Amino acid sequence: MLDKPWYGLADAVLSTHSVVSPLRYPGAKRQLFVTLTDIIKANVPPPRLLLEPFCGGATTSLRLAGLGVVEHVVLADADPLVGAFWYVAAFDTTWLVNAMKEESVTIERWDWWRLAEPKSRRDKALKCLFLNRTTFSGILHGRAGPIGGRAQKSPYKIDCRYGVEGLERRIRAVGDLANTGRLLDVWTCDWRTSLARAQTWFPELTSNEIILYLDPPYVDKAATLYGWSFQNDEHKNLATALRNSTDFRWVLSYDDADLIRQLYPEKRGQRRILVSHQYSAATAKKRTSRDELLVTNYPDIPISTSYRVIG
Ligand SMILES: C[S@@+](CC[C@H](N)C(=O)[O-])C[C@H]1O[C@@H](n2cnc3c(N)ncnc32)[C@H](O)[C@@H]1O
Repeated sequence: MLDKPWYGLADAVLSTHSVVSPLRYPGAKRQLFVTLTDIIKANVPPPRLLLEPFCGGATTSLRLAGLGVVEHVVLADADPLVGAFWYVAAFDTTWLVNAMKEESVTIERWDWWRLAEPKSRRDKALKCLFLNRTTFSGILHGRAGPIGGRAQKSPYKIDCRYGVEGLERRIRAVGDLANTGRLLDVWTCDWRTSLARAQTWFPELTSNEIILYLDPPYVDKAATLYGWSFQNDEHKNLATALRNSTDFRWVLSYDDADLIRQLYPEKRGQRRILVSHQYSAATAKKRTSRDELLVTNYPDIPISTSYRVIG
């Protein structure tokens, strides 16, 4: 799978791409890109493949791949709408762009998509994009309503986040990452399957050339934001899997909750880092600043003013 050419930083044009996600995603952590870049660049060997098993809006992976910090990325998510969206945006780009442009962005259409149960990957992708861009805070599942309310009396109407030119640019940038071999694949699967595939699908890579960036559902409030959220046991299962069964390098980002500090205690071979983060989950009334906890097994963490290593 890794036989496609890598353009990376060697290509002056492609490596200036800062690819912006076409999805508005609750919990997207734009600022973490800088911290991750610092950590990745401080360690050898450089990663050849970054796998993001909870990709959601994929903000971080797209930027790391677009700017050539990593050679290749694979995106994965358990949510079938999200997985379909990334697959079609990457590998069936023109179809998605045309279908997105043909949609009429109305409350009637929003109701139709909300009830629709698409079978094909293309239609799942379009449902994901349409609802993401027209629903309050980009929430795909549950009770969130259309932007502007059903009566559309707000100055912000249902189509205010559905600018087709901007969306086309962003979707085509994803297609470009795929065309140039930087976005290698998209998987719709549970995180366990992603970890198992990472162990066996890339025999040409050594384990320290693969990095996992994991941004699981929040401990608090995730059930109101995502169709797929975690019970406490699942947070524990993930911690056990990372402890026992992976030789890869990994970076995990979480809300700074007691449960997570207990699951990832201070210990040799594992570093915990606090990053101050602008938070925009739907349940917060406005963007506020709060600490994000990063845990990683990367050995070298450079000194920085933008985060604090706590053990
Ligand atoms: C915090 S969000 C990721 C946000 C993303 N990092 C971004 O920048 O937009 C968590 C994601 O995990 C996905 N998810 C939940 N349970 C999962 C599971 N068991 N396996 C894989 N993905 C899962 C959800 O669908 C959601 O997209």
